Amino acid sequence: MAPLRLALCLAISILALSAMHTGLTLTYGAASSHDRPPAPRHEPAAAALSPPPPPPPRLDGSLDAALSLASPRGHARVVVLTFGNEKVGRMLANFVAHARASATPCVVGAVDLPTFARLSREGAAVYKTPLALEEGYRMDGRNDHSSASWRRFAVMRTGEVARVVAKGYDVLHSDVDVVWLRSPLPYVRCSAEDVASGGGAVGARPVEAAIGCGTLRAADVAVSSDNMSPGDDFRRGVSYAIGGTLNTGLLLVRATEAGTRFAAAWHATVASPPAGRKFAPPGCCTSDQQVFNRMVRDERLPYPGLRLPAGTPRHLAAWNGSIALGVLPLALFANGHHQFVQNASARLGVRPLAVHATYSLDRHDDIAKTQRFREQGLWRVDPPEYFKGKFLVLRHSVSPALAATIDRYVKRGMSGNNIVVHVQALKEYVLELRDALALSRALGRTLVLPRWMCYCDRLWSGSDDIFHFGCMYPGSQDADFLPFVCPMDHVLSPAEWEAAGQPYRDAAFLEDSRVSGPLVEIGLTPRAEYKASSTTAPADAAVVLPTPLDDEEAKRRLAPFSASPLLALPHARSLLCGISSEAERREFNDLAQRLLRIPDWCSTCFSKCSDELAKWFSPEEIAAGADGPNRWCARFQVPPALRPARDGCGDNAAI
Ligand SMILES: *[C@@H]1O[C@H](CO)[C@@H](O)[C@H](O)[C@H]1NC(C)=O
Ligand SMILES: *[C@@H]1O[C@H](CO)[C@@H](O)[C@H](O)[C@H]1NC(C)=O
Repeated sequence: MAPLRLALCLAISILALSAMHTGLTLTYGAASSHDRPPAPRHEPAAAALSPPPPPPPRLDGSLDAALSLASPRGHARVVVLTFGNEKVGRMLANFVAHARASATPCVVGAVDLPTFARLSREGAAVYKTPLALEEGYRMDGRNDHSSASWRRFAVMRTGEVARVVAKGYDVLHSDVDVVWLRSPLPYVRCSAEDVASGGGAVGARPVEAAIGCGTLRAADVAVSSDNMSPGDDFRRGVSYAIGGTLNTGLLLVRATEAGTRFAAAWHATVASPPAGRKFAPPGCCTSDQQVFNRMVRDERLPYPGLRLPAGTPRHLAAWNGSIALGVLPLALFANGHHQFVQNASARLGVRPLAVHATYSLDRHDDIAKTQRFREQGLWRVDPPEYFKGKFLVLRHSVSPALAATIDRYVKRGMSGNNIVVHVQALKEYVLELRDALALSRALGRTLVLPRWMCYCDRLWSGSDDIFHFGCMYPGSQDADFLPFVCPMDHVLSPAEWEAAGQPYRDAAFLEDSRVSGPLVEIGLTPRAEYKASSTTAPADAAVVLPTPLDDEEAKRRLAPFSASPLLALPHARSLLCGISSEAERREFNDLAQRLLRIPDWCSTCFSKCSDELAKWFSPEEIAAGADGPNRWCARFQVPPALRPARDGCGDNAAI
């Protein structure tokens, strides 16, 4: 099945570019070409049947050419549709690379001409949107959704969704910060054959019954959600998701009569909001997503403005009863918290169809999102050079001190996943990072960050009370995901590392097949023990360093391994006692001021923080973090500067 379906999104010319990752599993059967969703549809004349399909037309910038490349005649008319410009070029390239690898039928609407030129050269099914053809249109890149250019973008993209649906395609509108891991075609088409083969590979039977494609077959429109509980998503279906924000960054509109009318109305409402509080400023709406949320709900009913159905179906009647509105299951259409924090799909044994990088922290920008994707091996567009070079790997381990703190709580019958443990952990991680980073620079190696463990979630904004929910984002607590592997933005600022130009890699880097060379394990032994005997070395260590030591001694002792691409430290606690070169020391300590800064961690306390936090912190600690009576922040110092390596350090130490 692969060769045929590969042709859908991209032509052959891009194969060379992305022969990269191949660890994908396409678990459903071959997609047969003639099945159509059963719902009533607008059929353009002479649609599906007559073989043989003509060769796809050259990409001339038209929508039709892109559509016939993405979804040739004879194929199910299902298409993923996204939009992007040069500003999001890297994210778009990642989107396209994933779509190609997963044989996802997709069309890219280029918002500017360079994007069209680049993607069409690569053979992607791309066309020029009306904005690309417009002289002088520029997105100003602000993401507050209120700028004029953003509004015009929203008008354009809803119009394009409506246009493609009107041509008879089931459209999965997708933001560009999404990766498609598997083709959604079988899930959307949901033929008898698709159902038999897993309806898009849902997996285990109970999961299949709850979220298989049949549960959404009747939906004209189905939308993803910002909700966070995979359990409630399973148990309660549409009634759960509808209580929160519906996210149109992943939105299915089927080419049924009702779906077609809805898409046109969505566009019309975004383009010219009818007067009145519901859609027009100042009450509403700065984004197409807001318009969508208001459209489907009936303001005459109590929130959520919809009549909740009996039972636990995945769709209900919405938009004044005119459409069947479904919610795309979280486990298959994963939002950022679900995927990058809860790791929920994996726990359920489900591989998502799509992952949407919502809920990223730091500056919520492409840097943070790219980082999140990289950490899970979902960033496909690094060039070959990225994988070449010499690296120093820092591994994660729980320090004895942290283990003792956790143990203290556990012995008292409390959870070891709490704010005290988390704050201590972050401080320790960054102190270790100081030494590992300094050593990597001294060795001329790029540091590979560890998979740190987090013991308390971090809020997107501090307006919720996380203490009430066992240190989990309110609404996600039933996933019971603590402790979890920290995304970097829970510990540091990826944007600051980028701005400082500090190269680094993530732990997932080591799992990439393009990284070559054996790992040389470095053992660490406290100097006193090292002097007494050299047999305390861990068995797998190729070399043992006495700690603490200075950078010169480390370089000398590691010199035999200078040709090895990968050296690995088991941890970096009390690793360095100083840096020899005064110039390098100054430079490093200046850099550390920027790189080793842990972002403030803040939460609201619904009761007074002095009461709520008494269980965890002393009155002094509570007072130090207080931001008014009902908000508390953990604030962190940058670790102490590294000292000069003089007498008393390392080799020279008089032990
Ligand atoms: C809702 O639908 C009913 C009939 O189906 C119609 O009479 C009414 O005008 C509609 N209301 C709105 C707000 O569209
Ligand atoms: C996610 O869960 C799976 C299955 O439990 C596990 O194998 C994997 O290591 C987890 N990944 C992370 C990042 O926690």
